Formats: sequence, C-alpha cells, structure tokens
Amino acid sequence: MRESCAMGDPGIIAQPNPARYCFAPRAMTGMKHEQDPTPGATPERTMTKPATPPNAPQPETRLVHAGRKPTHAHGFVNPPVMRGSTVLHPSIAAKAEIGRKALEPVENYGLMGTQTHFALEAAIAEIEGGLRTQVTGSGLSAITVPLLAYLRAGDHILVPDSVYGPTRTFCGGLLRRYGIETSYYGPMTTAEALRPHLRPNTRVLFTESPGSHTFEVQDIPALAALAHEHGAKLFLDNTWGIHHFQPFLHGVDVSIQALTKYPGGHSDIILGAVTVNTAEDWHWLRMGSLELGNYASPDDCWLALRGIRTLLVRLKAQEQAALRIATWLHTRPEVARILHPAFPSCPGHAFFKRDFTGACGLFGVVYQPQYSAADVVRMIDGLKLFGIGASWGGYESLVLPTTGTIRRTEGTGVFEGEMARFHIGLENVDDLIEDLDQGLALLRGG
Ligand SMILES: Cc1ncc(COP(=O)(O)O)c(C=O)c1O
Repeated sequence: MRESCAMGDPGIIAQPNPARYCFAPRAMTGMKHEQDPTPGATPERTMTKPATPPNAPQPETRLVHAGRKPTHAHGFVNPPVMRGSTVLHPSIAAKAEIGRKALEPVENYGLMGTQTHFALEAAIAEIEGGLRTQVTGSGLSAITVPLLAYLRAGDHILVPDSVYGPTRTFCGGLLRRYGIETSYYGPMTTAEALRPHLRPNTRVLFTESPGSHTFEVQDIPALAALAHEHGAKLFLDNTWGIHHFQPFLHGVDVSIQALTKYPGGHSDIILGAVTVNTAEDWHWLRMGSLELGNYASPDDCWLALRGIRTLLVRLKAQEQAALRIATWLHTRPEVARILHPAFPSCPGHAFFKRDFTGACGLFGVVYQPQYSAADVVRMIDGLKLFGIGASWGGYESLVLPTTGTIRRTEGTGVFEGEMARFHIGLENVDDLIEDLDQGLALLRGG
C-alpha cells in the first residue's frame, strides 16, 4: 500500500543523525524515533556552537543584526511577517528533497516554520549562545515540548520545589498519566546531597534559576555535572536570566525561554523558545516538536523579533529601576525581606554573583508578620501605577500577592510574612516609589 500523505502532511523524513546512539549512554539507550536512522555511526558530540571569538561584536551589536537579512526583506530593515500552510514545490523530486531536511530551517510546510520563525530562532540562539532554537506556542509549551521529546514511560525526573506552578501541574498531571514519575528537591540542595536521589531511570534533572516567586539561585554548573555524570540531561527554565545567564557556558543541555516576557516586552504576545547546543539534542528537540505538532504564530514571532531589538536597553533600565525600588523597600519597616538574587540574603546569591551578569526587573517582597493577607490586598488594590495581573517582562509595572499561590512539596521558600511579587516597568522610578509609599500607608492603616 502506498504511504498516504494526509492533508498537510509535509512528508518529513529526519536527516540521519549519527550521534543519536552515542550520547547519554545509559539514560537514552534504546530510545528511538520512528524515523531513526540505522545506528552505529560516529558521535558528533562536539558539534556545538563555536565559542564567541574575543574580538566579536558585543551583545548589543549582535542583537541588532541577529536573524536579520535585509536582502530577504526587499531592502527593508525588518522582514515581513510570513504566514502560510502550503508551500508549492517545483517538482516531486524537489518536494522529496526538502522533506529530508526536517532539521534545517527550510520551508516545506507551514507547520515546520517560515522565514519569520527561522529569523526569530536565529536571534534567540544568539541570545542564549546555543546551536539551534525551536520556537513554541507559549512559554509553557517551551517546557512541555522538550520534556515530552526526551522522556518516555517509566522515566523519572527531578524538579526543584521552586518551579513555575504550571510546570508542576504538568508533571503531576500529564507526565504522571504517561507513566513518568516526578520527585521534587529543594532548589538549594547541593549536587552532593542530590546524588542519591538520581535513579537509574532519572533522565532529566530540571532546574529553574532563580525559582518562581522565591528567587533561589541554583548552582547550575554543579547540577549539570551531576546530571551528566549520571547520563541525564540538565534542563533550565532560563526565563528570568535571559541574556544575563549564558546557559551553555554553565553545562545546560536544554534552555527554556518564555518569550512572552522580555523578548515580547509589550505584554501582547504568548510565545516560547527552546535552545540546545549539540546536534543530537537538536535532533531530539526538533523531531519531538514536529511529532507534537508544536507551532507558534508568525505574527507573535514577528513581534518578538521586533521586541528583541530593544531587549537589552529595556532590560538594563528595568534592572536598575527594580534594584532602586527593591533597595528602597528594603529600608521600610513594613518589609521583612526582599527576594531578589542581587541581595545577599537571597539563597544562592553567591551563584548569582558568580554566574550572572545582571538581573531583570522581577523580585519579591516578604512583609512583616503582623500584616495580614487583607492588609496586602488593601495595599495592592490602592496602588495607582502597578497593574494587577499575571506575567511580567512588559514595559509596565505589575504586582501580585503570592502567598497562597505558591505550591511546595519540600517545604522550601516558606516565610512567616505575607508575600508579593513586583515587576518594575519603564515608568519613572520616583513616581513608582511615591505610589508604593502611599500603598504602604494603606497596608499599615488596616
Ligand atoms: C519562569 C516562567 N517560565 C515559563 C512561563 C510560561 O510562559 P507563558 O506564559 O508564555 O506560557 C512563565 C510565565 O509566567 C514563567 O514565569
């Protein structure tokens, strides 16, 4: 019977990847994609992005040019948005040839990407310092797609207690239903203390640094070494650390970005990206993404590409504003503690100083224990310049109470006082401080 090509089936045939059978010898042994080539060829573990030469332009310069080819845009500075499903091929032979290039940024069928996706992927790979990037439909799917791509029934995964809530929901929901077990560990657990918790079937050591809401900074190089020693992969949700934490210089295998945050920068898109740094990791990620039918809106990709041109300017301004505001809040008697990696009281501050080049504009506050949840709500409701809403990374300031929304298994990151999370935007800092000042009066006045 002739193999049917269903409507929209691009006829993907994976490029042979000789390295597939040679990495992560224990953990990945026996895993095969349907399209796997014959095993046995030479490893390509070394096929990573070459280190940036010392005389290369600085990141600001590289980001202006990343993924941009004015020759592809009829001379205009920005490329057009390219939408599409069907790609017409000049012949059956040409179509078959393209079908063999599922791992390449070529137009075969819309689901596999357009020039708009490929341009954004090149720019994110540049920011993350990796070999290849896959864009995904949301930040959350930048977490779920690679997990599903790498894991199989019977596997075990280690996840920090401070992980983004929906990641925890995914692990306890879909992953569990598919026979994959999750164990949680305290984000500050040392590699030595974690070693006995890696099982023969532990395939992924997941990290998120700093942690969601509580901002613990993890010792990524040590955890990566532990994972590799065990034949497991080190995944990092690097959303907070965009630009300031270079994942592949610190041993990460799979780096996750919610592009919804700073790359989007204007609170009007939902998008994610996963970056890897070896040919074999790219094979797993790309084939898994295609099998899952992952897709990102080209309009959102275009907006993210546009956002990236000003990313570093915004990040710098928001980092400085957030530090000024956090420092001011720190002096206030209503505040017990600031949860910000740049503060020495933050767990993992030493790793932040060692591994990061800066911060973004998101941090937390723990109020003195005498203030109730109702006091915090009164303060937040009374703020005039801070929006009340989920997400962060846009140009506007936001606030949310976080106590009660934080789920923990290992009892980490629990404080006596009520907590709130602030995201600092591009407003004037003095205006924001004035607003917080009157907000703190409302907190006290209950
Ligand atoms: C650390 C982190 N990762 C991932 C996500 C998910 O991003 P998205 O909202 O695009 O699904 C978020 C969203 O808040 C986040 O804070």
